[in-house]
Amino acid sequence: MNAVAVYPGSFDPLTFGHVDIARRALKIFPKLVIGVSMNVKKFPLFDLEERVAMWQEVMEGEAGVEVDSYVGLLIDYVKSKRARAIIRGLRAVSDFEYEFQMAHMNYKLDSSVETFFMMTGQEHFYVSSQTVKEVASLGGSVDAWVPPPVVRRLKEKYGK
Ligand code: PNS
Repeated sequence: MNAVAVYPGSFDPLTFGHVDIARRALKIFPKLVIGVSMNVKKFPLFDLEERVAMWQEVMEGEAGVEVDSYVGLLIDYVKSKRARAIIRGLRAVSDFEYEFQMAHMNYKLDSSVETFFMMTGQEHFYVSSQTVKEVASLGGSVDAWVPPPVVRRLKEKYGK
């Protein structure tokens, strides 16, 4: 079995829910590549380098983790990493349709790569990067939802 998995996402910014998925995936896959996507459809708050730097700080010292970024097709990136698994977290039914489409498109593009879905932990299922940004932009505390390196950068962004 090829034991490399890619955990892709915009991660703008990463949350404790994302960290939980990454750590649980590492119990199954000995090597996990966290792939931060440029995602041309979105206008991120944090640039690619900042999003990568936050993951690096949070996962520092964890064995088997590589933090990286990519532009272009996810499936091409997965192949470039010699991985055969994509990890995605599911929070609610509302995530399902988009994830279902993406998994099938990716499978059609390359059937040697499988998508694995993991249920977001129950403490995290209601948290999204979007709502975290909204609370932070209005001066609210986001300590419960994102790790300290992210809290710090959100404060810097919003001048709080
Ligand atoms: O965190 P997100 O924004 O839901 O992540 C989505 C992501 C980045 C994994 C996805 O948009 C992506 O990798 N896009 C790259 C383009 C691509 O491969 N599209 C085809 C799959 S439908």
